[in-house]
Amino acid sequence: MQIKDFFQNEGKEITVSGWVANRRDSKTLVFIVLRDGSGFAQCVVNKDEVGEELFETARSLSIESSVALSGIVVKDEKQLGGFELQAKSLTVISLADEYPITKKAHGVDFLVDNRHLWLRSKRQWAIMRIRNQIIYAIHNFFQKQDFVQMDAPIFTGNACEGTSDLFETEYFDRTAYLTQSGQLYGEAMAMAMGKIYTFGPTFRAEKSKTRRHLTEFWMIEPEMAFYDNDQNMDLIEEMLLSILGDVLKNCKNEFEVIGRDTGALEKAMQKFTRLTYAEAVAVLKGEKDVNGANAITTLENDLEEIQAKITLVKEEITEREEKIAGPGIKKGERNFNQNKIDQLKNEVKDLEEKERNIPGWIKSAINFEFGTDFGGSDETVLTRLFEAPIMIYNWPHKIKAFYMKRDEKDPELSKGVDVLAPEGYGEIVGGGERETDKELLIEKIKEHKLPMDAFEWYLDLRRYGAVPHAGFGLGLERLVVWICKLHHVRESIPFPRWYGRLLP
Ligand code: 4AD
Ligand code: MG
Repeated sequence: MQIKDFFQNEGKEITVSGWVANRRDSKTLVFIVLRDGSGFAQCVVNKDEVGEELFETARSLSIESSVALSGIVVKDEKQLGGFELQAKSLTVISLADEYPITKKAHGVDFLVDNRHLWLRSKRQWAIMRIRNQIIYAIHNFFQKQDFVQMDAPIFTGNACEGTSDLFETEYFDRTAYLTQSGQLYGEAMAMAMGKIYTFGPTFRAEKSKTRRHLTEFWMIEPEMAFYDNDQNMDLIEEMLLSILGDVLKNCKNEFEVIGRDTGALEKAMQKFTRLTYAEAVAVLKGEKDVNGANAITTLENDLEEIQAKITLVKEEITEREEKIAGPGIKKGERNFNQNKIDQLKNEVKDLEEKERNIPGWIKSAINFEFGTDFGGSDETVLTRLFEAPIMIYNWPHKIKAFYMKRDEKDPELSKGVDVLAPEGYGEIVGGGERETDKELLIEKIKEHKLPMDAFEWYLDLRRYGAVPHAGFGLGLERLVVWICKLHHVRESIPFPRWYGRLLP
């Protein structure tokens, strides 16, 4: 029996195996929070029910010991799943050593060093289940539309997204690169199957330690023959709305565990605003308002609000500290207040980080140079003005990849699209229509100083029945981060890899 099925077994006697996530005792009762992977449930071990010996066993259970518990499933509205187990017997499978992750607040480095254990925590459990639901929703969306899932190789002989962040590796007597993107292979596969999507790991040797960058991440790359960039954007929008709909429907419990306000996600379920690059620049610089809001004055107001909030939170911290220091305070009340103070201090840290950042964001937005790419902070500024993702298209061709199709109407532009997630999150999708003109492609390959011989096979796709086609790459972790409203991309993948991080 699994905890997730308790609700169908009210009043029945069942056995469930799992781990002790938490334990709390009184004279005659032991309360165990059991987790079995499918969920968390309170199990009550009553001395009168199980007898002296088993009761002592229950009392000596260390955190993360594995056990099998038998008992009756009873309704209890106070519990997360609505049910608890009243134990009749208990078997210890393995008594755990002292568990390093405790209830006290741990530093981030410590938690990441213990990622193999941290994954067991309730919050991580919930995030991984949401990630799983997102993956399922993606396959569901594409399979229903008759896309064929095909895999691109991981060892490659050529760059796709520029040569600056390639991982090099030995491949017998040659050099190979870990793939940055399956796109070029996706194009070949689309010419064979019509509509395909890849779903696999991709690698970028970026030496940046931002909260958005991983060196190994999972990308979903659809590629469609006979699509232009408008159809491409329609597909991206449909896909994201379909994923959001599925997750909102199926992950209510998980969102509650991580405290994600799903209202913001529901608001994102609307038509996405499409801006040209030029329009987006005007919005960023405060030259053009959207939805009655101006990027720069919004930031200035935010800064004032944040400063006022910092003062308020600091006052509350002082009040609670005085309370704790006061005479005759009970242990429970002291612990409660101390936890609250720790939380508030974290909140101040976040707010102060924003207070420090905003002036820089304003400066960078006002001074943004037309024709350059948006930085992380520019994306944050832009997306805070919208409730749903936005799509930016018609990019200067000079800052986009070699394969991007030139705009017939304006040779300075290329038909790329970036999708930026709201709430300040920024880019989650990059894509566009592909250049079909062989000569233009050859010119671009030279301009980007890429080795022509490694691209001969790619040029064949233009030699033999070239057709208009388009596609995009969705960064799975970036999507998880936004949907779960995470602070950092490290929580979005089971074992994160970023600059400097290889273990566990
Ligand atoms: O914008 P990118 O570089 O586009 C491509 O690779 C295209 N070849 C895709 C295509 O058209 N088939 O990457 C696509 C997405 C980004 O929008 C972002 O979500 C994610 O991949 N991404 C990263 N995610 C985490 N860490 C990184 N270092 C990432 N780099 C890109
Ligand atoms: Mg991109």
